[in-house]
Formats: sequence, C-alpha cells, structure tokens
Amino acid sequence: MRISIIGAGYVGLVIGACFAKLGNEVVLIDVDEEKLEAIHNKASPIYEEGLDELLSQVHIEVSTDYQKILPSDIIFICVGTSSDESGSIFLEQITEATKQIAEVVKTREGYCVVAVKSTVAPGTTEELVIPLLETSGRKVGDDFGVCMCPEFLREGKAIYDFMHPARVIIGEYDSKSGDMLYKLYQSFNAPILRTNLRTTEMIKLASNAFLATRITFINEIGNICKQLGIDVYEVAKGMGLDDRIGSGYLNAGLGFGGSCLPKDLKMLISGATEVGYKPTIIEEISSFNDAQPLRFIELLKKHISLKGAVIGLLGLAFKPGTDDVRDSGAIKIVEALLQGGAIVKAYDPMAVKNFSKLFPQIEYVTKEEVLDSDAILIVTEWEEFNKLDYKGKVVVDGRRIVKAREARIYEGICW
Ligand code: UGA
Repeated sequence: MRISIIGAGYVGLVIGACFAKLGNEVVLIDVDEEKLEAIHNKASPIYEEGLDELLSQVHIEVSTDYQKILPSDIIFICVGTSSDESGSIFLEQITEATKQIAEVVKTREGYCVVAVKSTVAPGTTEELVIPLLETSGRKVGDDFGVCMCPEFLREGKAIYDFMHPARVIIGEYDSKSGDMLYKLYQSFNAPILRTNLRTTEMIKLASNAFLATRITFINEIGNICKQLGIDVYEVAKGMGLDDRIGSGYLNAGLGFGGSCLPKDLKMLISGATEVGYKPTIIEEISSFNDAQPLRFIELLKKHISLKGAVIGLLGLAFKPGTDDVRDSGAIKIVEALLQGGAIVKAYDPMAVKNFSKLFPQIEYVTKEEVLDSDAILIVTEWEEFNKLDYKGKVVVDGRRIVKAREARIYEGICW
C-alpha cells in the first residue's frame, strides 16, 4: 500500500520503517529538515534498538512537502500532542498537519483514509480532525475516510512491539474507512477490534492509565512492605501467579516517567474535569507518582546531609533502552539535590545528551567516577549497573539493582 506518515517522531519514524520493511511504499513528512536529512542518510535521530539497522534495509521517501502524500492510500497523523501542567493538550501540531492534509485531499482523485495515531482526548478526531479535513470541500465518508488507530509501542522495544502487537484497535468513521486499515493490519498475528472513533481514543488513554495504576499500586504496597521488612518483589511474584492479575507492570521503584503515561493521565484528568467529573483515582495516581522521587531523596537524607555532598546518579533516562528523558524521575531528583546544595555528577549510557540540555550545570562523568561520590543514587535499571563494584559505597536504589546490595550502606526505595 502507499502510506504517508506525518511526523517523524518516535512513533512516526518507527512505524514508517516497519511498514516499509513489510513492503509498503512509505513517505515521511516532517517540518524538521535536519531530522529528515538524518533519516535520509539512514541514521536514526533517536536511539531505539534495531532502528538504525532497519533504516539501512528500507527505502523511505522523506520530505517537508505535503504534496508528496497525494497518491497515498492511508495518511497517518503521528505528530506530538504535548500538554501543559493542567493537562490541557496543545493541539497546534495536529491542527496544522490536518489543515495541510486537507489542502492535498482537495485535489486528490479517488478515495484515501486519514488515520490519527497521535494520542488525543476522546472526541478530538470527530470534533477537530474531521471538520478541518472537510474545509477542503470534500466530504468524509464519500471522498475520504477517517480512522483512529493508536500505537501501543514501548520505547526501547518499539520495533518488536510493532511487529508483534498484542492487539490492533481500529476506530472507524464508517466501515469503508475501517476496511482500508483492516487490509493493512490483517496479516499481523493479533486480534483486531473495530469500533468507533471516540471509543478508540479512550482505549488508548485507559490502557496507559491502567499501566500507571498497576505501577503506582505496587509502589504503594512497596512503601508499606519496606516498613514491614517484607520483600515487595516476592509479593509481586506471588500476586502475578494469579492469571487474573498477571505479572506485568508490577516492578516497584521510583515510579513511571516518559512521554506517555504521565501526560495521558493528565489528559484524562482534564477531559473528565471538562465534563464535570472528578477522577479521584487517576488524580491520586498522578500525584503519588510525582511524590515518589521526593520520597527517594528523603531516604538519601537519612544517610547524608545534602549541602556540599557529592551525589552521583546512575541513570538519567526514564527507563533503560532509550535516550529519552521526558518526565524522567531523574529530573525531579536532580532538582531536589541542587536545591539542597549538593554537587551532582551523573552517568547514563545513552541519555546524557538529552539530559544535559535540561541541566547543563551538573557534571557528566563515567560510571566509575559516579562510584567515587559520597552517595550513589540508582535511577534507571540499565543492565550494566549490575556489573559495578559497590563495595564500601553508600547506595540508595530506586530500581532494584541486585549487585548494589553489596554496598556498605544500601537502601532500596520500596524494599
Ligand atoms: C507506554 C506504554 O507501555 C505503551 O504501550 C504505549 O504505546 C506508550 O506508553 C505510548 O503511549 O506511546 P513507554 O512510555 O515507552 O510505553 O514506557 P513503558 O515501558 O510502559 O514504561 C513507562 C514507565 O513505567 C517507565 O518509567 C518505567 O520505568 C516504569 N515502569 C514500568 C515501572 O516503574 N514499573 C514497571 O513494572 C513497569
């Protein structure tokens, strides 16, 4: 099929490369010429396992010119939808992209489908995207179709997740629109659920909110277990043996970060508030998660006074396998350390470049140099941290690195 993707961010780039690998003709549109140049030269602008190799195997046409999408059967909108502190999302990028698509749809002969992949609040595709597309003078249902088809990719595992989806959700304006997406996804070995647009938008948000709920739940159990001298990881193992519970997303620690879970909770909260409902559980999960890194600092303070102390961070990315630091727990931790007067040194195998844009004032060093600090904080569970020599050190661990237990003083956040 001929596929266009608007937005060469993390989702757009990964699915573009994967669809090309599966034999589709792919055009990738973005406003960022530097990023497109890198992709054209087969170098991924983000760190994602296997992506450079995949890019080297496929052909993707990249452009800033929307006219290139003219012959497409399906146009995926994959632009970012950032949110402010209140959670209201800024829809500028999706609005601009849709307007540009409308200009192309105006002159297109024959039917095509516009499919939203960006995470949006329920109602957005119907109330924003469709009316904007119809400014072209073309009619949804007759001249073009509309779908909402979220991705459930995890950063660091995105290619695997794309190729082996647990499920495909197709939100469709009408069955003709959905049929086109169905054709594209039918060869995947996954159940396909076809439903309406706003239900699909909610499935995406509710899925991420549920994952956030599981993490927060086990973190709360972990905080209690720590007081009682019980190992929360054993508790999670025991719980997970029940099929109704399952074992995923029960690793207690510093809490969740990244560009999705925190933002999607806020999007749900603001959407609910707008319709006059107070989402108490989701609000509590969000604020509990915000507080977990600060609890971590309190544990550190039991062992060391921050003023003038050299504190070393192992890990800056919001999780291993990525260079992404958006909403990483490391941000709140570094802020609190600097506020307390500590001298901060940090190491991460991938995320230093991104983190140093936020905190140019701290020192970025090797992991061995981090070990020389007055106290060491483990923030991301990179595998390599299980090979360091912690003997004689003071370690506060937010991610359960087993080897760190040999430290002179070892304190786990929930254990
Ligand atoms: C998440 C979802 O898992 C994807 O399905 C979804 O497609 C994606 O958001 C998105 O909406 O685009 P991602 O943000 O890449 O994916 O990260 P996860 O692997 O889900 O981890 C999120 C955070 O939770 C990380 O900070 C991780 O360290 C933390 N986490 C995860 C825990 O603290 N404990 C766990 O047991 C699992």
